[in-house]
This record gives sequence, structure tokens and C-alpha cells, in this order.
Amino acid sequence: MPKALCSIYIAGEKMKKEFMPFENRIWLSSPTMHGQELAFVKEAYDTNWMSTMGTNINEIEKQICKYVGCKYAVALGTGTSAIHMAVKLAGVKQGEKVFCSDLTFAATVNPIKYEGGEPVFIDSEYETWNMDPVALEQAFELYPDVRVIVVVHLYGTPAKMDEIKSVCQRHNAVIVEDAAESLGATYLGQQTGTFGKYNAISFNGNKIITGSSGGMFLTDDREAADRVRKWSTQSRENAPWYQHEEIGYNYRMSNVVAGIVRGQLPHLDEHIARKKEIYERYRKGFADLPVTMNPYDEKRSEPNFWLSCLLIDNEAMCRQIRDEHEVLYTSETKESCPTEILETLAKYNAEGRPIWKPMHMQPIYRMNGFVTREGDGRAVISTEKGSLVMGKDGKPLDVGRDIFNRGLCLPSDIKMSEEQQEIVIEMVRSCFG
Ligand SMILES: Cc1ncc(COP(=O)(O)O)c(C=O)c1O
Repeated sequence: MPKALCSIYIAGEKMKKEFMPFENRIWLSSPTMHGQELAFVKEAYDTNWMSTMGTNINEIEKQICKYVGCKYAVALGTGTSAIHMAVKLAGVKQGEKVFCSDLTFAATVNPIKYEGGEPVFIDSEYETWNMDPVALEQAFELYPDVRVIVVVHLYGTPAKMDEIKSVCQRHNAVIVEDAAESLGATYLGQQTGTFGKYNAISFNGNKIITGSSGGMFLTDDREAADRVRKWSTQSRENAPWYQHEEIGYNYRMSNVVAGIVRGQLPHLDEHIARKKEIYERYRKGFADLPVTMNPYDEKRSEPNFWLSCLLIDNEAMCRQIRDEHEVLYTSETKESCPTEILETLAKYNAEGRPIWKPMHMQPIYRMNGFVTREGDGRAVISTEKGSLVMGKDGKPLDVGRDIFNRGLCLPSDIKMSEEQQEIVIEMVRSCFG
């Protein structure tokens, strides 16, 4: 068993219902192909455009611009490289502090380090689980010189972009948007991936549509797009030989991968619709349980529902203690915890996942600054020497840590049938028996 999944379960009184394991694994979110992908890959093969140039690349850049409503798109090997290019364009310098979403995948943050910057993490709010604009404002009071922020739309749910944008405008900060998980999600009718000056999406294998891998840099700034095209192809100058005047990268997308993305794009809306059905079915199935689904602002946003997640009410949490690699929990009647639910799903061949462990809790980043909201009995706030934020009762109170402790990602694969999902729902329900 992988170390991170190793747990010790202390037997309690609960009599849990047993299920037949799924014959075929129910995935968290796996690629779903439709057929046209192969035709575009074959076209690349048949025409010998097995390269980082070709029609598939040109087409998906055009189509994504049209879909999201941005002027320029540059297809790259990964979403991470797109974030890297965005951070580089923002001109992050050695030692420069950059505000960044705390509750996210490490790929949102690492590119700041590639450029020598120093991430300062901004806590989440409970309404969307994304960067808290109130904490962001407080962060600017603590670090008024910050010029760049990187904001994620977690699990496909748009962040509070109106508030975040106005805080950034007040402080003249450039927004880099990590829309890796949120392609197709909208906020006040506008697509995510168009709010920042420099933005990134991902076509990684588990995303809403995929190229098996891949990513894209999005912007309305022509010069920025041209620079990314140049940097991502080893920064060749316009000269009769290989002339290099800047550091370059081999970051361009393959025309083969682009063929897969091209075949997937017409199915993006259909994937989103399926993901929404899954989310709604879970919401209904858990209506009488002491849990809530990952929330979104129903008035202002329409997520792409990439991953359905749940958060267990405080009162319904059994004891669960995590150290860096292991977890302990006690199984209690009427109560449960993410570990118990994930183990139950795994036992019957269904894949869930813990919520991203917040960046300020990660060994590589826990010495970085971390800013959480002041007030509501919360303890103050930022520390550059470790980031355990303690409440008056001695319990850690930051929002990201709380969501990590009480939340989990549910199987959200669009190939899961309605019947299979009903069984998954029953499995989760059995944990609260
Ligand atoms: C929030 C977030 N940011 C960035 C990435 C990086 O994308 P990629 O895997 O395409 O490099 C991912 C997914 O992998 C992600 O979930």
C-alpha cells in the first residue's frame, strides 16, 4: 500500500453494510474518448506532421480562443508550463513575494519558485473554497509591494473574481489565472481563463477534456503570446543560424496531442453537462446526511463541476488524525471522516481522493507566509516562520486546513452509470450508519 494511503483504523461499534466490489474500477475522473480524436491523430500521422507544428495545434488554438473568448492561445506541453510562462511574463524576480491560492495542487505554485519568487499563500473562503478576497486585502496590508497574484478555480468552481479583481486593481497587481481545472466554467457569464492578464488551462488526462497531457497559455496581449511562442520553442531569434539571446524552453505541444484535444473539444459542453448531473445526483443522495457538497455562488457562477466533493459537518466528524504520511481514525456510529469514506470506496473498487493538502501545510512551503482572514474569532494571521494558525480553543482554524480535514473528492467520472453512482452514494451513506 502506498505510504500516503496507509492508515490505522481503530475498531468501533459501527456495523457497516457490505457491498459487492465494482467489477471495473469507478474512477475519480478518467479520459473519455469519442472517436474523432483518432481521426485527427491519424491525420497528423498521414501527413507526417508528427511534430510541434501542424494543423491540429493551429485549430485548437483558434477553437479555444473562440470558446473562452480570448484573443490569443498558445498550445503547450502542460498546464504547468503555461503557468510558468504566465509567471515569467509577469516579471517575477528572485526573492519577490507573490500571492497565491493556498488550497490547490502544487502545480499552481511551483512555477513561482521556478522564477525564484516566494509564494505567500492566501487562505480560502467557505463559499467557493477559493482565494478569500478579504484575506487577500489583508495580505496587501502586510505586503504592500506585491505585484502579482496567482488564483485558482478549485475543482472547476470559479473564485470570487469580482472581489479579487477589485482588490488587485486597488493594489495594481497582475492576475495570473490557473484555470487548469475549470475550462468551460463561467463567472457572471465570462469564461474562466479570461480574467487574468496571463492565464493557463490544462488538458491533463484527468481534466474535463484531455489530450492525454497538454496545456494552453491564454491572453489578450499579443506581445505576451508572441513571447510565449518564442520562449516555448527554445527562444530562437530571427537569424540565419540558431541565435539565442534569452533562455528558452521546450514547452510546445505536440501536434499528436493537439489532435486528441481537437477531437475532444466538440464534447466539452457534453462533459460539463454530465459532470453537473453527477454533482446534482450526489447532492440529492446526500441531502439527509450531515455533509455538504463543494459549494459555488449560484447567482454569479456556473462551474464545470469537474470534481464533486463533499465536506462533513463538524459535529459528524469522527476522530481523524493525520501526520505527514499516516492517518488514524476511530469509526463511530452516525459519524465518519474522509479517511473512512475513501477506504470504503477503495475497498469496493471506487476511487476518491483527499482534498488537496493546502500549500501552507506542505513541508516544502510551510516556512512561507500564509494569510488567513482576521475576525470571527480567528487567530492572527501571517507568519513567515511556520504557519500553524491556532484559534482561541487551541484548534487550528484556517479554512484550507479545515476543508482538507473534513473534505474529500468523490468518484466523478463521466463514464460512471447512474446505477453505479447510486451504489457509490449508498457506500458513502453506510459510513454514517
Ligand atoms: C489546479 C491545477 N493547476 C495546474 C495543474 C497542472 O496542469 P498539468 O498537469 O497540465 O501540468 C493542474 C493539474 O494537473 C491543476 O489541477
